[in-house]
Order: sequence, then structure tokens, then C-alpha cells
Amino acid sequence: MAGELRHEAAGWVPGVYPIIMLGAPGAGKGTQAREISKALHIPAISTGEMLRQAARHRTPLGLKAQEIMESGGLVPDGLVCSMVEERLGLPDCAGGFILDGFPRTLEQAQFIERFIEEGWHVQPLAINLAVDRESIIKRLTGRRMCPVCGSIYNIYLNPPRLPNHCDLEGTPLMQRDDDRDDVIRERLVHYDHDTKPLLDHYRQAGHLLDIDGSRPPRELTEAILQAIRSV
Ligand code: AP5
Ligand code: MG
Repeated sequence: MAGELRHEAAGWVPGVYPIIMLGAPGAGKGTQAREISKALHIPAISTGEMLRQAARHRTPLGLKAQEIMESGGLVPDGLVCSMVEERLGLPDCAGGFILDGFPRTLEQAQFIERFIEEGWHVQPLAINLAVDRESIIKRLTGRRMCPVCGSIYNIYLNPPRLPNHCDLEGTPLMQRDDDRDDVIRERLVHYDHDTKPLLDHYRQAGHLLDIDGSRPPRELTEAILQAIRSV
């Protein structure tokens, strides 16, 4: 059945929430991470957002990452792992956190599992948002974002009330530099090659919840929260 919880997550401690959002580019990781963060009162940490912010501020990391991101490639593991390690050391992560866009390679997965095991004595719970390729393309090409509050819209599927303006800030929306056809293709190649194998990695460990990501955002949030709470 669509949205059915297909894998029991073993060894996960309810009440402590290290959550990993998995899914292809455009699957809805960022949209859902924001909602789950509000519901569980834990921070949502997007490595993509952190790298884009570093690029905007022209930090050494941002300058290295920018070119890679604009080509649809993956930023080297060592750089991203250090960035995540630093962020997870902040006090707001003590009760848990949601990782959106990390891990993306087996090396990153092994790093974060060790890190969480040492700091929190639990295993992360991975949530896979499954969405078909045709919808993914529509979601990415139609995505618009608020540069002030980060709210995510879609001109086809989830439009703002006033065209091209944020509902909350009233600011003109922007399109991400990597939401261009050629870059989207490259991002999907990297997803299939580097990140998709992580699904089997977490499935085999019994730490994966497969969720049908094709449903409307609010319905999906409810399904994810219900799945988390029933583990
Ligand atoms: P990142 O920012 O993580 O991009 P991504 O993984 O490609 O994922 P997206 O942010 O594009 O999609 P999403 O799943 O968050 O979907 P969203 O909620 O926005 O990474 C960008 C780049 O940074 C990478 O390519 C890489 O270069 C680098 N990078 C980042 N992390 C890295 C790492 N760990 N290692 C190495 N490099 C790294 O939704 C998409 C659209 O769909 C929106 O318009 C939304 O409104 C709409 N939508 C969402 N949910 C629904 C729904 N249920 N129904 C209908 N529409 C929906
Ligand atoms: Mg995102």
C-alpha cells in the first residue's frame, strides 16, 4: 500500500531523534525536514543550505563548493563531514536533529553513524521519500525559494498566494542556480550512483522507513510523524 511502513527500524531509541532524510533531488527532503523540525522541536540541518550560505559569504569552503554545486557534482566527503561535525556540536542538537542531504556517500554514512553512536548512543533513523522521476523533474524545475526565510514553493504544485512572492515575507522568490535542466540531470546521475546505494545500507541495518513521497506535503508530514512515533 502507498505510504505503508515497510521496514521495522531496530535499535532506535524513541525520544532521541537523529533522523536522516533520504531521497532524490527534489523528493521533498527540505520541505518535510522543516515541518518535522517544527513538530519535534529539533533543528533541521541541510548541508545544501549550509554550502549555499558559505558560497554567498564567499568563505574558503563556499568558494570551493560553489563550482561543484553549480555543475551538479558532490562536494568532497572530508569537507562536508567537518562542516556537519561542527554543526552537530552546537547545543541545539543535544536532543536530536534532522539531517537533510547528508549522508550522500557510504563514507559520509559511516562517518555519521560513528559520530552519532559516540555522542548519542543510538543509531540514526533514515527516512526515504520515494518519488517517481517525472514528478522529480517537475518539482525541481518549478521550485522557487524565499531568500529571506527559506520557504519552499513550486509554481506548478505549491504556488505562493501572490505570484512569485513569499507568503510570509512578501519578498520576491528566487530560483536555485542548480535547478537548470543540465545540472538537474547531473545531480540525478550522482544520486543514482553515490546516494541511492545508501537505501540498501540502511534497509539491511533495519534502520530505514520507506515512505511514499508522492502525496501532498501536509499529508506526507503526518505520515512521516506517525511512522517516526510508531517505531
Ligand atoms: P541539496 O540542497 O541537498 O539538494 P538536493 O539533494 O539535490 O535536494 P533538493 O534540495 O533539490 O530537493 P529536496 O529533496 O530538498 O526537495 P524540496 O523540499 O526542496 O544539495 C545541493 C548540492 O549541494 C548538491 O548537488 C551537492 O553539490 C552539494 N551537497 C549538499 N550536500 C552534500 C553532501 N552531503 N555531500 C556532498 N555534496 C553535497 O522540494 C522540491 C520541490 O518540490 C519544491 O518546489 C517543493 O515545493 C515541491 N514539493 C515538495 N514536496 C512536495 C509534495 N509532497 N508534493 C508536491 N510538491 C512538493
Ligand atoms: Mg533541499
